[in-house]
Amino acid sequence: MGILQEVAGPLSQRFSELGIGSQIGISIVAFLTVSVILNVIQQLLFRNPNEPPVVFHLFPIIGSTITYGMDPPRFLKENRAKFGDCFTFILLGKKTTVYVGTQGNEFILNGKIRDVCTEEIYTVLTTPVFGKDVVYDCPNSKLMEQKKFMKIALTTEAFRSYVPIISDEVSTYFKKSTDFKGKSGTVNICPKMAQITIFTASHTLQGKEIRDKFDESLADLYHDLDMGFSPINFMLHWAPLPWNNRRDHAQRTVAKIYMDTIKSRRERGAVEANSQDIMYHLMNSTYKNGIKVPDHEIAHMMIALLMAGQHSSSSTSSWIMVRLAARPDIMEELYQEQIKNLGADLPPLAYEDLAKLPLNQAIVKETLRLNAPIHSILRAVKQPMPVPGTKFVIPTSHVLLSAPGISATDPQYFPNPDLWDPHRWEKDAVNAPSLVKDENEEEKIDYGYGMVSKGAASPYLPFGAGRHRCIGEQFANVQLQTIVAMVVREFKFRNVDGSDTVIGTDYASLFSRPLEPANIYWERRDGA
Ligand code: HEM
Repeated sequence: MGILQEVAGPLSQRFSELGIGSQIGISIVAFLTVSVILNVIQQLLFRNPNEPPVVFHLFPIIGSTITYGMDPPRFLKENRAKFGDCFTFILLGKKTTVYVGTQGNEFILNGKIRDVCTEEIYTVLTTPVFGKDVVYDCPNSKLMEQKKFMKIALTTEAFRSYVPIISDEVSTYFKKSTDFKGKSGTVNICPKMAQITIFTASHTLQGKEIRDKFDESLADLYHDLDMGFSPINFMLHWAPLPWNNRRDHAQRTVAKIYMDTIKSRRERGAVEANSQDIMYHLMNSTYKNGIKVPDHEIAHMMIALLMAGQHSSSSTSSWIMVRLAARPDIMEELYQEQIKNLGADLPPLAYEDLAKLPLNQAIVKETLRLNAPIHSILRAVKQPMPVPGTKFVIPTSHVLLSAPGISATDPQYFPNPDLWDPHRWEKDAVNAPSLVKDENEEEKIDYGYGMVSKGAASPYLPFGAGRHRCIGEQFANVQLQTIVAMVVREFKFRNVDGSDTVIGTDYASLFSRPLEPANIYWERRDGA
């Protein structure tokens, strides 16, 4: 005690003689040092054997946020190699338990409604963007009904009407775009695919009237809505920051545009009777409790649908174009496939034609295997969840993270997993996947929005699984396959330097996509 006083006494006197700035600086450094030391001691000495191992980190709260955020798949794979399929890391102060592999996919994505919750995680981000009373701003049972209404509208008959609309939008785009003037050139392909995606999705799903507004006001408004999805908004969604103010203004304005459209379509009555778009279908849908879907909910679902599809489909189409530029030989194969199976005159594309183009289908499938836009899926834990076959119990203070992309690139299921090889999906191919069941052979279940495969244990789940599974899968396939087929008819692509390298991934927003500028060299086939 005496020695301590002898040392501490002069130290505290010298400290009080310092200026206020130095005193604050020293206090902060001392506080940080103590927290780092306590954090390290806690990790080394007080490991809870009933919880998954924790990824070592120096700083509390920050934890592994930076290493995870820079390259989530790499972070997950490196730690899987150290700890196995189930481990915990600190993400923005939250204990986040990862469970990868096929059993992990099943555990999280097929978790019972009493155990896991999606809306609790995402509502802060989605409700200001979509609006009230839809998706994650309502009980799960209501979302299931909303998904059913939207899914029912996505029929084969509707898709048949969509293919000519999409083909036409793509051709018109390339005719009008100044970036594709002349015989050849170089272009950053990502913004182009984002535009093509929004034009084709809005025209097919929301009708011509809304599509036309994307040439004017709607494009900018949707851009402002988009800014609400920045990951920083998990924490700052409430803050009166410029981008949040623009988000709120855009939400009100876009919702009003949809509500005015709904009103005028109702007034037109019989003229609309054969419409195939989702808005029309929702205008005629009724919840189980007998209440017709209110106009503001239709408007908010319209925003949700377009946003859900926009990011994932435009990222995927950009990746496809980037991949084709790296493999011009495969682009040529795609062209020859159309000539062989549809005829040398390449007639206008019809829905039925898509099934005659297996390589065109495989391009989408293989790109989603390597570049799925949703790399991490989060769930809140509602009651302690024992992990089968281990002594771990995941407490309610943790968040669960599923990453189906990890099993989709696991050599156990996919030989040469990092190779983009669309031919692997052909029967008896060299790199053919193992244990990927045909969806049609799997047991089915209805969570309230139609039959879906019961098991989430497949290694290939780019559209998720369970009650939150994607309802846009078939639409996305029709949209993407049509876009690819039309691009292949018109262009030859290659990398600007002629190499076969593929650009890296941008993980800065919630949906991953190619880093920009993703420049590719294009050349018109007809030389026009
Ligand atoms: C859900 C992927 C396109 C609408 C999901 C989920 C994934 C996914 C992984 C599950 C999310 C979770 O479990 O939390 C994709 C991919 C797409 C795509 C890779 C394109 C390549 C679309 C399109 C639409 C759409 C075009 C709309 C037409 C939805 C909806 C949900 C969903 C409504 C349900 C969300 C929920 O139940 O919580 N999607 N999607 N998606 N997707 Fe998609």
